[in-house]
Amino acid sequence: MENYKITNKLFSEKEKGSKETVFALANGYMGIRGTIEFCEPELSGTFIQGVFNKGDMSVPELVNLPDPLSINVYLINEAGLQRVNFNSCNLLDFSEELDMRRGVFLYSVSLKTENGYRVNIKSERFISWKNKHRWAAKYWINVEKFSGRILIENTINNNIYNNSMNPLDKTNHFGHFRPLNFQDGIGMVSYLTDSNKKIIQMCSTVPENFRMNRLKYKEELNRPVEILCFDCDKNREYCFTKYGVIYSDYDLEDSSPEAVEKELNFFLRNGYDKELKEHRREIEDNWDRIDIKIDGDDEVQRALRWCIFQLNSSAYKINEYSSIGAKGLHGEGYKGHVFWDTEIFMFPFFLYTNPEIAKTLLMYRYSTLPGAIKNAFETGYKGARFPWESEREGIEVTPKWGMSYKGEKVRILTGDHEYHIIADIALSIYHYYRATLDNDFMMRYGAEILFQTGIFWNSRLQYNDSMDRYEIKNVMGPDEFHEEVDNNVYTNFLARWNLKYSAYIYFWMKRKNIRVFRELTDKIKLFPSEVDGWREKIEKIYIPRDPKSKVIEQFEGYFKLKEYEITKHDENGMPLWPDDLDTDELNNTTLLKQPDLLMLMYLMPEQFTFEEMKENYDFYERRTMHKSSLSPSIHCLLSISVHEYDHSYEYFKKTLLTDLYDNQGNSALGIHAASTGGAWLAAVMGFGRFYIDKDDMLNFDPWLPEKWNSLSYKIIWRGNPMEIEITHEKLRIKPLKESIFFKYTEKIFEATVGESKEVKIL
Ligand code: BGC
Repeated sequence: MENYKITNKLFSEKEKGSKETVFALANGYMGIRGTIEFCEPELSGTFIQGVFNKGDMSVPELVNLPDPLSINVYLINEAGLQRVNFNSCNLLDFSEELDMRRGVFLYSVSLKTENGYRVNIKSERFISWKNKHRWAAKYWINVEKFSGRILIENTINNNIYNNSMNPLDKTNHFGHFRPLNFQDGIGMVSYLTDSNKKIIQMCSTVPENFRMNRLKYKEELNRPVEILCFDCDKNREYCFTKYGVIYSDYDLEDSSPEAVEKELNFFLRNGYDKELKEHRREIEDNWDRIDIKIDGDDEVQRALRWCIFQLNSSAYKINEYSSIGAKGLHGEGYKGHVFWDTEIFMFPFFLYTNPEIAKTLLMYRYSTLPGAIKNAFETGYKGARFPWESEREGIEVTPKWGMSYKGEKVRILTGDHEYHIIADIALSIYHYYRATLDNDFMMRYGAEILFQTGIFWNSRLQYNDSMDRYEIKNVMGPDEFHEEVDNNVYTNFLARWNLKYSAYIYFWMKRKNIRVFRELTDKIKLFPSEVDGWREKIEKIYIPRDPKSKVIEQFEGYFKLKEYEITKHDENGMPLWPDDLDTDELNNTTLLKQPDLLMLMYLMPEQFTFEEMKENYDFYERRTMHKSSLSPSIHCLLSISVHEYDHSYEYFKKTLLTDLYDNQGNSALGIHAASTGGAWLAAVMGFGRFYIDKDDMLNFDPWLPEKWNSLSYKIIWRGNPMEIEITHEKLRIKPLKESIFFKYTEKIFEATVGESKEVKIL
């Protein structure tokens, strides 16, 4: 079971923040960072998915909630009162571990107090995957050779700020607090400034193997504080458990203080062990769906499991009113906003392992459709303009200002120009429908999104009279180094695809159910003339492609920019800026932040020949700085497609280790959720080479690094789960519900239900 554990035995101030992210726990409803109660956190963090507040900030952000883990321990004897924490004691021993099989975070520390007592503390924490509002932490304390009293000070710390590291943006999102004192513990109601909506937290601390009294309850700075105490015998180990529950007014269930207390009481009655057992069962069932086994490469195996575990944790109990932020539920980075990262990088993992969650993610886009329609209207377009950065309502919330690579204030243009997200969302609807054939979803929700995005693109196209073509000017493609460009191939290509698919679904729906079709088209006032317009324009959308050259120009004018190639790398293998480069001038160079044209080739491989893909890969790979964590996974996938196998494993490792090694230098702000999704993509669709071709046929065309003995994974295709095992010699496919046909090297094979079909690797 070792390969389901991430362990760290070295405490380092420098790495504290990124480790708090790596060891964070979440269940898709809430997340708590992997902070250690006895050590000043770098960034403490408790979050509920979808709870945003703007307050004094320029845009709403995911609120960092009061910290319910807050606990202080003191020893009292004739020598006086000594606090037990990293500041006032010497650290003798340290280890922390994420046990992904059990879904728990554990740590063990030994501290030497000023008076020379050795205090050994162990803790185990989990956030329930069974009952989403519940979390618990268990502590074992033993003070060697000490007899005296131990005081435990428990609070819910409301001295919490978002952006606490940046004095300019440091914000507390609460207007006021109401401490709660009840028989078995403490609680607090915190009121958000924008809406006065409530967050209710309650905790109860229960001794497990001794008696503990409550000495005092008081209220300090509007927070509840309880002091518990017990007499301590030399060398005995004392164990107690803190049970916590958390609700918000956004929950679909009752969130009155009475309901919250009732939930806490149920939790207390269930007890830690039973709750943990139920939580574990849920996690086990999930591993059964999502696990990927790599034999022969332990480091990669563990890191890959960390990625899929944290990705799953970010969404497991999600509902349709929120989606996964770029940093999961693991940190404040990107203000908790939702980007294209979700649909393009994370969504496929859910689609092929847990399609219900994939559907919920799309339902979030449906629930934010009114916001997207408003965005389009306010910027002079029609239909739905999904925001580049999204929160609960679907309104564009990209901040207008940010920091350049030189640390200077710069205008952020992504929210103004990165339109491609609209088609990225449409594309995920296509993938969802193809993999599930969920007609109900398409009729009730998917079609409406597709129609509204079709209307948007139609209003966004600009006619070029002299060339008799439609263009899309002044956009930003996925590569954000180039900010205001014309006819970005990625954007134009996907806009065209979006219009085509929207038109296809229009006629499909008309045939399938004329009543529902009429209701929807009447509701959104979609007239046949609009769809006729789409069909006329589709053929005239300009896709820059020079017939003489295989290398496709990313956007008009790219080939005329100042030429740079990457020649130097840092110790993590990440590219270094060329020496004479001025990073304020990136817009004028051929350097890329992340794949753009290659991104398109990854998404629509059937539109390009092998030679085209190879030449473009060779050209753009040498110019890509990977300044986004979204970049390496796509390079891994493409390097396999174009048989540049030397690159594949390295890019895979960069993806896997983004947060575990903090190779982008900002993991303290949360996980790079897109990169965790990219890790799944690279493993299953890269090395495992599972893909669906244009005839909706399952294909497997694997390639394994030499070091690996085998790779196995599971996917669900149209309700049919299947096991895939790949070695250097053989490919085995075992469908579990129905027999299937699949392709390997253009040949069709049949796999009978419940049996492994074995094919020799050529
Ligand atoms: C990337 C975007 C991404 C965002 C959030 C940016 O650095 O360039 O593609 O959506 O981060 O992860």
